Amino acid sequence: MPPRPLSTAIYQEMCQVIPGGVNSPVRSCASMGQLPMVVARGAGDQVFDVDNNAYIDFCGSWGALIHGHAHPVIVEAVQKRVAMGSSFGITSAIEGELAKKVVSLMPSLEKIRFVSSGTEATMSAARLARGFTKREFLVKFSGNYHGHADFFLIQAGSGVLELAQSSSAGIPATIVKHTFSLPYNDINTCISTLNDPRWRDQIAAVIIEPIAGNMGVVEATKEFLQMLREETKKIGALLIFDEVISGFRVALGGAQALNHIVPDITCLGKIIGGGFPAAAFGGRREIMDQLAPLGPVYQAGTLSGNPVAMEAGLQALKLLEQSGFYETLAKKTNLLTDPLREWISAHQANACVQQVGSMFTLFFGCTRIGSMEEAQHADVKRYAHFFRHLFEHGVYIPPAQHEAWFVSSAHETQHLEKTRDLILKYFEEHLG
Ligand SMILES: Cc1ncc(COP(=O)(O)O)c(C=O)c1O
Repeated sequence: MPPRPLSTAIYQEMCQVIPGGVNSPVRSCASMGQLPMVVARGAGDQVFDVDNNAYIDFCGSWGALIHGHAHPVIVEAVQKRVAMGSSFGITSAIEGELAKKVVSLMPSLEKIRFVSSGTEATMSAARLARGFTKREFLVKFSGNYHGHADFFLIQAGSGVLELAQSSSAGIPATIVKHTFSLPYNDINTCISTLNDPRWRDQIAAVIIEPIAGNMGVVEATKEFLQMLREETKKIGALLIFDEVISGFRVALGGAQALNHIVPDITCLGKIIGGGFPAAAFGGRREIMDQLAPLGPVYQAGTLSGNPVAMEAGLQALKLLEQSGFYETLAKKTNLLTDPLREWISAHQANACVQQVGSMFTLFFGCTRIGSMEEAQHADVKRYAHFFRHLFEHGVYIPPAQHEAWFVSSAHETQHLEKTRDLILKYFEEHLG
């Protein structure tokens, strides 16, 4: 383990005043069996802790940093912008610039509203869907994460007839009873639930991560997404794509462009803020116009459309528009992932790499995962051991098995090769 005296001291002090010493639980590294990193700065594809240890970063602020840390174009634009005043709570033109950019890149969005986090985006999208349809029920899929609004924190029940159970204390049963959590990629269960005469006319929306990142990377099949599009239309419910991770990560048009599906509402976050707190939801005009001040669905935010975050987001999206951006990024990622897949296949090892473009997960203990039920078989103890091994050698990966790794345009070939070699050596020693 690299020496981390200052990190340890700072973290222990923080634990006195911040629950668990962190402002978001997974950062605590609790299930990895070590203390978390206390980061001081980032540059390109690396982060440096307060003890000045360097780590190649594959977490990338949980997918937000597709251009790496402190990209010079974003830094310069943000510095200029912040010098003009950081927040007004008054309309500023940069909000319109980013809105126009997103609407031009994702045709299913005719209008968009900015918020400050992915949680706000999905929560507001659900309220909008309920207001638009005048219905109460929501359908989600197990292993998908849509932020921490009460009605999304629902585990899959055993069978759709069972009332859903909340996965957090503090959530009233009366709230979770309006959410069904169904198995991901299970076409038959989904069709029969959506068409059940007991609630068919009460379902406001179906929300899905079209490429799940929160049980590790698991893609919804095209057939599953097509079925959702058809069935929701048939029963008068809205289809919400939660593209907080996949939007701008897998293609300029998101997972919806890759799958040729037009959802009714899309939620965006992470990359859209260029490393600052911004997120958004958008969709068809007639739906979006239900929002206040035009319509009866209330939604608001003091820092919504914050000009510094809008500037960072706009610069990030402009960089993505450079020709060949996604092809180059996928090639970079394959430098790392192809040799891992080849090794796994040659040794018939009980592991797999699931990847879409520059996001992927290396699962231990399973050879293919299509749902949360299958993801639960992953070997989390092995992953924790692996995490510590890479950490010791200066590589930072997500501190949980069921998360996505992200490669950025800033990742250097030599760092990808170093990581590849470290992992192959680990495979030889522990999976061989
Ligand atoms: C798919 C998805 N939706 C929503 C959220 C919530 O976003 P935030 O953490 O910005 O509230 C996340 C966060 O990781 C996410 O991955």
